[in-house]
Amino acid sequence: MPANPEDPPKVYVRSFGCQMNEYDSEKIADVLRAEQGWESADAPEGADLIVFNTCSIRDKAQHKMRSDLGRLRELKEANPNLLIGVGGCVASQEGAAIIESVPFVDIVFGPQTLHRLPRLIAARRASGRPQVDISFPEIEKFDHLPPPRKSGPCAFVSIMEGCSKYCTYCVVPYTRGEEISRRLDDVLTEVADLADQGVREVTLLGQNVNAYRGSMGEGGDSGATADFALLLELVSEIPGIERIRYTTSHPREFTSRLIDAHARLPKLAEHVHLPVQAGSDRILAAMKRGYTTLEYKAIVRKLRAARPGILIATDIIVGFPGETEEDFEQTMRLVDDVQFDASFSFVYSRRPGTPAADLPDDTPQAVKLERLQRLQSRLGEIEARIGQEMVGRTYDVLVEGPSRRNPGEWSGRCSNHRMVNFPMDPEYAARSLGRMIRVRVTQAFPHTLRGEAIAEPGETQPEQIVSAAGTGENGLHDGQAAA
Ligand code: SAH
Ligand code: SF4
Ligand code: F3S
Repeated sequence: MPANPEDPPKVYVRSFGCQMNEYDSEKIADVLRAEQGWESADAPEGADLIVFNTCSIRDKAQHKMRSDLGRLRELKEANPNLLIGVGGCVASQEGAAIIESVPFVDIVFGPQTLHRLPRLIAARRASGRPQVDISFPEIEKFDHLPPPRKSGPCAFVSIMEGCSKYCTYCVVPYTRGEEISRRLDDVLTEVADLADQGVREVTLLGQNVNAYRGSMGEGGDSGATADFALLLELVSEIPGIERIRYTTSHPREFTSRLIDAHARLPKLAEHVHLPVQAGSDRILAAMKRGYTTLEYKAIVRKLRAARPGILIATDIIVGFPGETEEDFEQTMRLVDDVQFDASFSFVYSRRPGTPAADLPDDTPQAVKLERLQRLQSRLGEIEARIGQEMVGRTYDVLVEGPSRRNPGEWSGRCSNHRMVNFPMDPEYAARSLGRMIRVRVTQAFPHTLRGEAIAEPGETQPEQIVSAAGTGENGLHDGQAAA
């Protein structure tokens, strides 16, 4: 309870995980606000409830959370009324064991029970005993969340939960449960709701968005389901939505219908995050990924044919048990072949309870780290080259807000997901916030770009177009070279 009973209670939520974890953190704050009037705090000090939304994908994330959780002891000792909640994927895996090892934790809840947090808080207060609920009550969560509220032009919408792929190294199927899709109407209503609030870009979220099978029709009992390609088509018809992204997709269900959607739907972003994990077929099989490198490359080739200029980002694991130097060289060759943009790569982390945890693993950690370094420097070179190639071209950029580094500048993303910072005069900026404008890229840095605003699409501003020295008139479009 707050010191002054008149003040609303404050919750501080901290995310340790992926975009789904961050999405859940927002929903935790939303559900507490809607049901019990909690306000969000920016720091743990002074909060009445601190929630750690945890991640167990790799050992490091889990360790960091553990040590930061230990540090809350002082706050708890100073304020015995402070409540500490642990949610997310570590909570899901460990459940009550968290309270055994960290006795000052009051509430443990999983990714699928976050909507029950208000009830768990009440039960904690009434009983004086810690509360644990890490069940997987199907898709119940989404029926109990308040409607989304958004102030910026970009929003995330979860379309499915969990994962049924069971890659041998991964905890997600155990922490989040099997794949389950939200009803088609529910997703479309949420997107339309967000569009009404000024959202122009939605990112559809899930561990495997292309496994989406949303039930259609009244009550969802007609038996008909919508696949991901159909969902994209329907989202792209929602007025106000100008750009659609999705993450993460899986190569195994990357259907020709989905590839075709990239050719047919101009609102689909020129960017796909398609984790490959390894470039050796032997390792891919041991990971149980369900595709070969040839099949992966075929998807990329077709995507690029469907949508010239599309950038492909990926995830790669280095040092999976049994990975030889030759296997790793094949990953390097795949990286050269595909030319990924902005990728994430990690050293394999052994996760207790997963099948790979029992495999013999005799590659020294130092060798794995050295491989990771070689891989990352190659990925970095390619990323830099792609950035350099964007210099001089013009792109549609959704103006998201002031640049974080330079408050005098603005920033937004191109359709291909690259971030651009650019100056704008205040009057033009005020009109452009949350809208799509044309930006010419003038300079490339390792992870960002600098550019100059030219004009909003369809808007004629002769003096600005002239000052942009010839772009705009020569028919250049996003990602296309001046041939
Ligand atoms: N569903 C997505 C990935 C989600 S997890 C997919 O299948 O593509 C995000 C990334 O974490 C994975 O792509 C993988 O590269 C990495 N990852 C997962 N488990 C890992 C582990 N045990 N060790 C190292 N990296 C791991
Ligand atoms: Fe994990 Fe594989 Fe599922 Fe991705 S597809 S979440 S890597 S089990
Ligand atoms: Fe981590 Fe769970 Fe996401 S393990 S990566 S928070 S699904």
